[in-house]
Amino acid sequence: MSTVLVVDDKEMMRDSVAQTLGRAGFEVVTACDGPSALRQIAAHRPDAVVTDLKMPGMSGVELVEQIARIDDTLPAIVMTAFGTIETAVDAMKRGAFDYVTKPFEGDELIITIKRGLRHAKLARENAVLRAGAARPEPATGAGLDRLVGDSPEMQEVKAQIEAVAASRGSVLITGESGTGKEVVARAIHDLSPRRDGPFLAVNCAALSESLLESELFGHERGAFTGAEKLRKGRFELSDGGTLLLDEVSEIGPHIQAKLLRVLQERAFERVGSSLTIGVDVRIVATSNRDLMASIENGDFRGDLYYRLNVLPIHLPPLRERREDIRPLAEHFVGAFCAREGRPRLDWTPAAMASLEAYPWPGNVRELQNICERAVVLASAGGADRIDTGLVEPWLRASPRAIAEVKPAPVFAETGGSNGFAGEPVVRPLAEIERETIIRALHHFGGHRQKTARALGIGVRTLGLKLKKWKEEQLVPATL
Ligand SMILES: Nc1ncnc2c1ncn2[C@@H]1O[C@H](COP(=O)(O)OP(=O)(O)OP(=O)(O)O)[C@@H](O)[C@H]1O
Ligand SMILES: [Mg+2]
Repeated sequence: MSTVLVVDDKEMMRDSVAQTLGRAGFEVVTACDGPSALRQIAAHRPDAVVTDLKMPGMSGVELVEQIARIDDTLPAIVMTAFGTIETAVDAMKRGAFDYVTKPFEGDELIITIKRGLRHAKLARENAVLRAGAARPEPATGAGLDRLVGDSPEMQEVKAQIEAVAASRGSVLITGESGTGKEVVARAIHDLSPRRDGPFLAVNCAALSESLLESELFGHERGAFTGAEKLRKGRFELSDGGTLLLDEVSEIGPHIQAKLLRVLQERAFERVGSSLTIGVDVRIVATSNRDLMASIENGDFRGDLYYRLNVLPIHLPPLRERREDIRPLAEHFVGAFCAREGRPRLDWTPAAMASLEAYPWPGNVRELQNICERAVVLASAGGADRIDTGLVEPWLRASPRAIAEVKPAPVFAETGGSNGFAGEPVVRPLAEIERETIIRALHHFGGHRQKTARALGIGVRTLGLKLKKWKEEQLVPATL
């Protein structure tokens, strides 16, 4: 049921509109002036507002302007007397959705409200889509079907997903990179009562602290240079749904405090605003770092950890559930063959044996990449089965080996090919950069924020570089 706020200083008018809307099946709240309307909006979060224009104190036009600042998708409809249509038009310029001219029929108002609600719904869906909720459905389907593999470890994980889905308690999913944490988060959302609400994800490691703050909580117009428009954050956009906070361990102290408050009070303020917004969001967080160690270092708040870790789920690395390798490899090859529009390929027993023996430092993601490459290579080479030749080179060239190589000096001594012993050979800067970053990351135990700070670059820059290198398999997927 939709809630409509009716604002009018005249009690008779207020009551009669409220009655009409109540009979039409709306939940109605009322206010007698602008300031109390704003309080009602904060308290009841109505889906639409109907307001008179002429009111003592704050006028209807001012109210409309304030509403547009708070929530530009909340439709405000103004009631105007004949002769003041110009004011109504002014109100629309400042963000009102539409106007009705007094005296009006109940039906006219109801139709306008319904149009406003439809418009708002579309605008919100659009914002959610822009925020990245639109993703092609993975070939695995929904719910637990997303997760391939029936090892005892995966059965345990699936049982945990079913057990936590109905609750709204926060879930903390831990596990190495590529083990399927995001897949688990989506499965939880699919099985939860909020499955029809939005599912949004934020990668906390990829953004600088101030960008992350406005990404999560939104900002008011003019909150900082460049904030030209009001922007809703992911918390607001995922209201009624699930918000995945990826790599939550990378959040800085300021946002940790804000996050704690949302978890405790289900309320927050946009950057640059004093208006408190209530939300109903289920948090799923992931971490591939040992958060207990971060707490001991003083990098992560203990109280936040306990709030996030209400329902923990741990995903074991693939090497600890080798039974899953075969069904995963078959599933991925099937999916990639379908994508390439070619008949299904099988693995030769020898190739499968190599997969099953390999330690998979990059976990399921690495397996998926290798399957994709094998299908592409098999297609190109006209093979009808995938044999060891198509996978072993990749298994041996595992990125883990790259991280373990000792960095070469910037100037390598040559044997003196030009007869000039000891002449330095200049190495590509990109290679030196990569090595320096990997070494720094190892030095700081994988802590991106510290690494970035020490290197004098932004943590977002660091995140983007690593992402690119991982995709190119130049660094370990586990970094
Ligand atoms: N059990 C599974 N069944 C099917 N696909 C899976 C499974 N586990 C992981 N995948 C796939 O492997 C890839 C990596 O999974 P995902 O992104 O969930 O990992 P992650 O743990 O979130 O990694 P990271 O820590 O790097 O973010 C994805 O493409 C995902 O679809
Ligand atoms: Mg992930």
